Amino acid sequence: MLSFTLISALSLVGFAASAPANNPPPPANFTPPGGLGLNTTPVYNVVSDFDFQSINLALNQEYIELDLFHHGLAQFSVAEFEAAGLDAEDRFLIEFMADQEAGHAMLLTNILGGRGAKQCNYTYPFETVREFVDFCQKLTRFGESGVYGFLEHLDNRASAELLLQSITTEARQQMVFRQFEGLFPMPVWFETGITQSMAWTLLAPYITHCPSENPHIEWQNFPALNITNDPTVQLLAMNITPAITHNMSTPLTYPGRQVGLSWENPGKTVGYDGMYKTSTSAGAAKFVAWISQLNVTYTPLSNISGNTGMTIQPGGTVFGGNTAPIVNGTMFVLVTDLDLFVTPANLSLLNPHVVAGPALYQSG
Ligand SMILES: *[C@@H]1O[C@H](CO)[C@@H](O)[C@H](O)[C@H]1NC(C)=O
Ligand SMILES: *[C@@H]1O[C@H](CO)[C@@H](O)[C@H](O)[C@H]1NC(C)=O
Ligand SMILES: *[C@@H]1O[C@H](CO)[C@@H](O)[C@H](O)[C@H]1NC(C)=O
Ligand SMILES: *[C@@H]1O[C@H](CO)[C@@H](O)[C@H](O)[C@H]1NC(C)=O
Ligand SMILES: *[C@@H]1O[C@H](CO)[C@@H](O)[C@H](O)[C@H]1NC(C)=O
Ligand SMILES: *[C@@H]1O[C@H](CO)[C@@H](O)[C@H](O)[C@H]1NC(C)=O
Ligand SMILES: *[C@@H]1O[C@H](CO)[C@@H](O)[C@H](O)[C@H]1NC(C)=O
Repeated sequence: MLSFTLISALSLVGFAASAPANNPPPPANFTPPGGLGLNTTPVYNVVSDFDFQSINLALNQEYIELDLFHHGLAQFSVAEFEAAGLDAEDRFLIEFMADQEAGHAMLLTNILGGRGAKQCNYTYPFETVREFVDFCQKLTRFGESGVYGFLEHLDNRASAELLLQSITTEARQQMVFRQFEGLFPMPVWFETGITQSMAWTLLAPYITHCPSENPHIEWQNFPALNITNDPTVQLLAMNITPAITHNMSTPLTYPGRQVGLSWENPGKTVGYDGMYKTSTSAGAAKFVAWISQLNVTYTPLSNISGNTGMTIQPGGTVFGGNTAPIVNGTMFVLVTDLDLFVTPANLSLLNPHVVAGPALYQSG
């Protein structure tokens, strides 16, 4: 039953390959026809503005992670870390993650031919170890999803290969921070992607000052979106200790939960050195887009008053029936003017319809 649902769903997204009726012998050189860029001499560079701007955005993300992990280790005392259940070996792992970020920044700088961003100054919204871990879990979430959103659209497939090899490491960091927070490590079947403009919207508020030669970031900054009854507040109040995995005794959120939203008007200055302004090309706020796993699900926005509204957390599973609930983990919500049907590889068509967001929704 499950495998039937999976196969039909995969055919829907176009993954199903037509199997030959009887197995022909393999080609003489053991390489079936097809594939992109095989048996060439790959050049690991950027070959378009799209590649440059995408990878430079990822580089800005690697730099904040490098700074953040060091900053957290310096800001809190050993006693504060121990009280949050994080011992010397856990702290060494965070230090090692900072080293990984230095490596990732070096790689992306090389791909950009040395023309990429340099490290900046940052501001952070945490005062306790648990808040620090929660922020790391969320920042690495949008760092990871921000890359999945463009990786398959890069012109240079060779550079995409190297970026993939760094982002799989970042994916592991994200999961470790969930474990440090005492959450279920991976409550999804698929890690979602978001567009560059969505990732830049989430990143920009934390960068305060950059070297003046840093390349201007061309992605859009959407107006900020707040979840007024953010489940993170409840999560941080719970006394959960770090664990490899943890069944939450009461799930953080559930389908049918009422969610309050408030958003800013466009035109606000965000990002470093007053150089960026939020904007939107969307019409009136009507829907809430929930981006998670393979899906973009819409719920109606109701009780709209000025820049506030309410919606209801949707149910639904990725492949229908008893498969993975779409809304789980740390995922993305946006206010839109349209319930546009998009799938992972054409998500960028949603950008013109974004009124505000994304906000990170800590759903489980
Ligand atoms: C979620 O996305 C998958 C893959 O595109 C699709 O097969 C499925 O129908 C979607 N689920 C829902 C509830 O929209
Ligand atoms: C600002 O960033 C530079 C690196 O670009 C760093 O040398 C400096 O220490 C930072 N200043 C602060 C206050 O963090
Ligand atoms: C963990 O949660 C799953 C799913 O709700 C349940 O089947 C399982 O019994 C739980 N295990 C423990 C040890 O609580
Ligand atoms: C999210 O996943 C966790 C772990 O599998 C599960 O206990 C929880 O009920 C799920 N939440 C929802 C809303 O389905
Ligand atoms: C969003 O929440 C932050 C922190 O609570 C607050 O400073 C900001 O004014 C809020 N913005 C909107 C548009 O509600
Ligand atoms: C809108 O407000 C009414 C009255 O306060 C409330 O009953 C309803 O649940 C709200 N709708 C949503 C989607 O929250
Ligand atoms: C996005 O792609 C899906 C097929 O995967 C297609 O059905 C849908 O119409 C596309 N969305 C738009 C807005 O073109």
